Amino acid sequence: MQVINSLGYQVIFDDSLVSLKTFLAERQYSKVLVLVDRNTNDHCLGALQVVFNDLEDYDIIEVDPGEENKNIDFCIGVWKTMLDFGADRKSLMINLGGGVVTDMGGFAAATFKRGVDFVQIPTTLLSQVDASVGGKTGIDLDNVKNIIGTFTQPQAVFINTQFLKTLDDRQLTSGFAEVIKHGLIYDRDLYNNVKELKVRDIAADIIFRSVEIKNEVVSQDPTEKGLRKILNFGHTIGHAIEGYSLFNDNNPLLHGEAIAVGMICEGYLSHKLTGLPEEELNDLIATFRAYFPDYRIAIENYDDFFTLMKNDKKNVGDKIGFALLSSIGKCEYDQYVGEELIIESLDFYRELISR
Ligand SMILES: NC(=O)c1ccc[n+]([C@@H]2O[C@H](COP(=O)([O-])OP(=O)(O)OC[C@H]3O[C@@H](n4cnc5c(N)ncnc54)[C@H](O)[C@@H]3O)[C@@H](O)[C@H]2O)c1
Ligand SMILES: [Zn+2]
Repeated sequence: MQVINSLGYQVIFDDSLVSLKTFLAERQYSKVLVLVDRNTNDHCLGALQVVFNDLEDYDIIEVDPGEENKNIDFCIGVWKTMLDFGADRKSLMINLGGGVVTDMGGFAAATFKRGVDFVQIPTTLLSQVDASVGGKTGIDLDNVKNIIGTFTQPQAVFINTQFLKTLDDRQLTSGFAEVIKHGLIYDRDLYNNVKELKVRDIAADIIFRSVEIKNEVVSQDPTEKGLRKILNFGHTIGHAIEGYSLFNDNNPLLHGEAIAVGMICEGYLSHKLTGLPEEELNDLIATFRAYFPDYRIAIENYDDFFTLMKNDKKNVGDKIGFALLSSIGKCEYDQYVGEELIIESLDFYRELISR
């Protein structure tokens, strides 16, 4: 069992989940609520049975899976169910699921009765290496991602890498985008270790290193005043593409797929503005194109796209802030980029995939 100390809580790697049992025995919560979606109910909840055998009082709250449900309507449903089940301030919410469940469950818990404790048990690669660590909770508003939310740290995070076995290849690869990102922004060795890996071969040590990086960054800057912004590499353009795709495509891009496109565009900006060498840009492009399908950006009018980007929380006034690479393994934040160059980066991507 490996442990990472985070902001007042621990991230515990434990495939048996015995540590959760110990945690609950020590804390003596008045009630335990478990938030799942349909898939984690089917595939993951069973693994918690050993823990629940000892519990006197627990209830399950189930939501429909999918990003389109990470919204206020579903959140109201969760709050109402918490109320119906008699949750009080001494209750614990266990969020068992991917980033949608850990983000929305964290937000519901952080705001219910001004805050009840919650723990995260991430069940997708993306939520294990990213969403469950760092204390950001939240929901989307229309097509603006994560615009409503809090910074609230969980009481603990339990990572069981066995959960990834039932995850489909597309979801696993989506999470892999964040692992590659952690290498690109912070650790060239990690990037080199993963760039030719088969995603199914991802092992606990890579997940551990990836969480370690996220944790090192967020621990130095919990509320994203500075360094934490480097985690947004690829996300300024990526989130706008994700929001666009969610509302316009029949089969919308997953988060990791969208930020893979975003990282190519922002890699281009990095080459233009912060000195990312051309051969490293080409390496980055080859890596992402090996894992992710090309995305035809069907946007004719960039205005909507800029509106999406300007809603991003990292911006100040009208300026669009980016985190850009100076080399593989190093990232600089607060790089403000004009609209013309942003369009150039999108055109660069369109041109690239048309060849
Ligand atoms: N809070 C943060 O810091 C942070 C960071 C990154 C991403 N996020 C958020 O995370 C979300 C994306 O997370 P995600 O990719 O985990 O999506 P997700 O929660 O939608 O999960 C993806 C799919 O996999 C299913 N699933 C989950 N675990 C499974 C398992 N073990 N076996 C089989 N199926 C399983 C889910 O039901 C869902 O259908 C986005 O909303 C994003 O904004 C948050
Ligand atoms: Zn992300």
